Amino acid sequence: MPGQKIESMSNVDGLITPTSEASIPVLDRGFLYGDSIYEVFRTYQGVPLFLDEHFERLKRSADLIHMNLSQEISFLEEEIRRTVKTTGASHGDDLYVRLAITRGEGVVELSPSRDLVTRYVIVVKRVPEWPEKFYKVGMRMGIPPTRRNPVGSLDPNIKGGNYLNNILGITEAREMGCDDCIMLSERGTVTEASNSNVWFVIGGRLVTPRDQNLKGITKEQVHTVCRGLGLSSHEEEVSASALTAAVEGFVTSATREVMPIKSILLESGDEVKFSDGGGEVTRRVASGYLNHIETLVSRHRSTRFI
Ligand SMILES: Cc1ncc(COP(=O)(O)O)c(C=O)c1O
Repeated sequence: MPGQKIESMSNVDGLITPTSEASIPVLDRGFLYGDSIYEVFRTYQGVPLFLDEHFERLKRSADLIHMNLSQEISFLEEEIRRTVKTTGASHGDDLYVRLAITRGEGVVELSPSRDLVTRYVIVVKRVPEWPEKFYKVGMRMGIPPTRRNPVGSLDPNIKGGNYLNNILGITEAREMGCDDCIMLSERGTVTEASNSNVWFVIGGRLVTPRDQNLKGITKEQVHTVCRGLGLSSHEEEVSASALTAAVEGFVTSATREVMPIKSILLESGDEVKFSDGGGEVTRRVASGYLNHIETLVSRHRSTRFI
């Protein structure tokens, strides 16, 4: 049976062990300062989708933080494959793969020395299962007081190891009784959720915020799916005040895929409510996305990890 015997395994600079035994040195800059970048992707029946896009984004994050990768991408891909093979996973399994690169280890000093060697950390485990309620009903989202980092201070397009901004967002939303947050910018525009992109149907148009969020790989794929469905999707500025007119909403990410939003608790205390499991557009996009994935998986079977 797929998924029966998967053990979470980690690879730290080539040393593969069960994740519970993996460790990194305390002087690693990822640990000391969050001076690291990462990518998360999943496999479908062992097929890693959008691998090139993830590596491209990893390189972009590295550029944005002036980090020179000591490892070649082809080497990192081989290391991921080697780690996956030790998990006991078989053909039909869906795996979660997290690849982190830290700036390495040196003396405790903020300014990174040029001769640091980046460290790679790969964690492989079973794909996380989100509560069924999140798909059948949808998530309850809240607008937290904390604003998303402005592009000019810590660009949300750096998929970095410092997620404190997002952690504050979701912590505050949870304290408000919500499942996740919708973070606003200082300018009062919508940015994204704690670890996913957000979409809304407002005035008959499907929109997703253009600025101050991570360029999600799922978001890009959802635009493709929409084109195939003959549904226009728009990336544009979405003001917080426009949310009162939203009639549907959903979030997208590699592990959540298309997950409906049930309600949004606004700063005014008012709550905007949507249909259980998403409205018509959300359901079309969600099933279109799954069909799209199915097609890609059968097309790319030969790239299977296991
Ligand atoms: C802050 C943030 N936004 C958006 C996303 C969605 O990105 P993707 O679709 O590539 O998973 C993520 C995923 O981790 C994220 O952390």
